[in-house]
Amino acid sequence: MIKTPEFARHRRLRNSQAMRDLVRETHLHVDDFIYPMFVVDGENIKREVPSMPGVYQVSIDLLAEEVEELEQLDIKALILFGVPKEKDEQGTGAFVEDGIVQEATRLIKKEFPTMLVLADTCLCEYTSHGHCGVIHNQDVDNDASLKLLAKTAVSQAKAGADIIAPSNMMDGFVAVIRKALDEAGYTEIPIMSYAVKYASSFYGPFRDAADSTPQFGDRKTYQMDPANRLEAIREAKSDVAEGADFLIVKPALAYLDIVREVRNNFDVPIVAYNVSGEYAMVKAAAQNGWIDEQALVMEKLVSMKRAGADLIITYFAKDAARWLKNKK
Ligand code: PBG
Repeated sequence: MIKTPEFARHRRLRNSQAMRDLVRETHLHVDDFIYPMFVVDGENIKREVPSMPGVYQVSIDLLAEEVEELEQLDIKALILFGVPKEKDEQGTGAFVEDGIVQEATRLIKKEFPTMLVLADTCLCEYTSHGHCGVIHNQDVDNDASLKLLAKTAVSQAKAGADIIAPSNMMDGFVAVIRKALDEAGYTEIPIMSYAVKYASSFYGPFRDAADSTPQFGDRKTYQMDPANRLEAIREAKSDVAEGADFLIVKPALAYLDIVREVRNNFDVPIVAYNVSGEYAMVKAAAQNGWIDEQALVMEKLVSMKRAGADLIITYFAKDAARWLKNKK
């Protein structure tokens, strides 16, 4: 008789790379990634964002080259942020027919018809004050902002955007944008809602890249308090009820508990936004030689999937796609 072991031999399933691959529970795939791009006004511009090495502001005439690179890496989706020269109180640049995201979308859909173009729907890159809506009495006016956001979404859909991704955190934005899209005939265009978006210090480098730092105050009256978990459920619940097709949790790394919470409570695809500050920290440490960048990035990304994310919006998309390819 063989004696029953008195402890479990967990190491049996870890004893070779092949064995570890066999029992691996979570896999990263290039289809998981959405790559963010910053499109600037002007010509012949490809300017590296100082706090985000490897990420560039690119003018429309150089955009095709960048998208070509994504296609070669088999990345199937990108999200566009516009960085206009002219800004005003209303953020007019967000919803004009020849706006920067609209023009970029037209170009990409013409030259790369199978590439999925997501349009970030917000006003902060276009307003002179840098807030995500219009200002009345020193605060963002929710309902007045909704009208402009709906106009923005429709103009983006009209330009050919495949998915509308509103990041403004006004109450009711999904309902109002869904209705406007439907009325304009875009019933088939999904909404990827930034449903659970925290007022986070991790957005610092993005605000440099998108030139969208608020000129006064902060975003705490519309973005969420990092201390709150139940509020995430309330936000996600109302967005799903209003018609959201995807839910974004943002940032990702410090909020993986929230990603899991949202995954467990909702049956739509869940997206983790691996934000600019998370990228900058890794790049800075890597440049100092303090970490193994590739190993660390892949660990972070797989952790987001393990937490329940189906998709990841990440500035590491190109690097990760390359590393996944080379592995084979
Ligand atoms: C626009 C928007 C922001 C980000 C995505 N959309 C900035 C903000 O809310 O200040 C942040 C993305 C990142 O940090 O990578 N509202």
